[in-house]
Amino acid sequence: MSIQDKIDQRAQRGRFITVEGTEGVGKSSNIDFIESTLKQAGVDVITTREPGGTPLGEEVRELLLAHRHSGMSVDAELLLMFAARAQHLEQVIQPALARGQWVLCDRFTDATYAYQGGGRGIAFERIAILEQWVQGALRPDYTVLLDLPVEIGLARASAQGDADRFEKEQQAFFEKVRGAYLKQAKNAPERYRIIDASHPLDHVQQQIGRVLQAMIDEGQP
Ligand code: TMP
Repeated sequence: MSIQDKIDQRAQRGRFITVEGTEGVGKSSNIDFIESTLKQAGVDVITTREPGGTPLGEEVRELLLAHRHSGMSVDAELLLMFAARAQHLEQVIQPALARGQWVLCDRFTDATYAYQGGGRGIAFERIAILEQWVQGALRPDYTVLLDLPVEIGLARASAQGDADRFEKEQQAFFEKVRGAYLKQAKNAPERYRIIDASHPLDHVQQQIGRVLQAMIDEGQP
């Protein structure tokens, strides 16, 4: 393939946007908002999630979130996340990007660094080995981090119903998760867009709307 072909392929490839945050930051409603804003702007976008996004991945998700596996080892947890991700990349994400679609993904590998790295204490270097193995050079183009003090998020989340295996963790765990997200955002400012999710929803969505407009403008050929 010539260099020009590679440049053309890159120009035609869709954008890969991931959305991250700790519990109770309002991820679901803001993902709906992002999807509808992009669609209104004429972007061909698919929305998916991790762990999950494929039949296999959704079964793995069920294993990961279920309380019956409360004794799951941290390495088993890490490897299951990447097993689901490998399937998701092959079956959904890479084909969509290659078709020129944008992919909006509810969590991705930054969540592994935050939860299994920051929260569970697995060395970032070990996660990086799996990232390279499973993803090769593929990284999100943009990561929207919905950031909120942990205490407020947990109070919001507890009002939302039954806690899964992760949600039952204590505040100290989520402080480490948040700290890891903020560290990653600091290390990759060109990719991360931090949104202050402590404001009322309409204010949060105004912030997100501005960020999306800039992405759409950057995505124009
Ligand atoms: P959700 O709350 O966004 O539906 O995600 C399910 C849980 O999975 C959430 O508590 C975060 C956790 N998770 C990880 O621990 N590592 C990962 O790599 C991903 C994608 C999610």
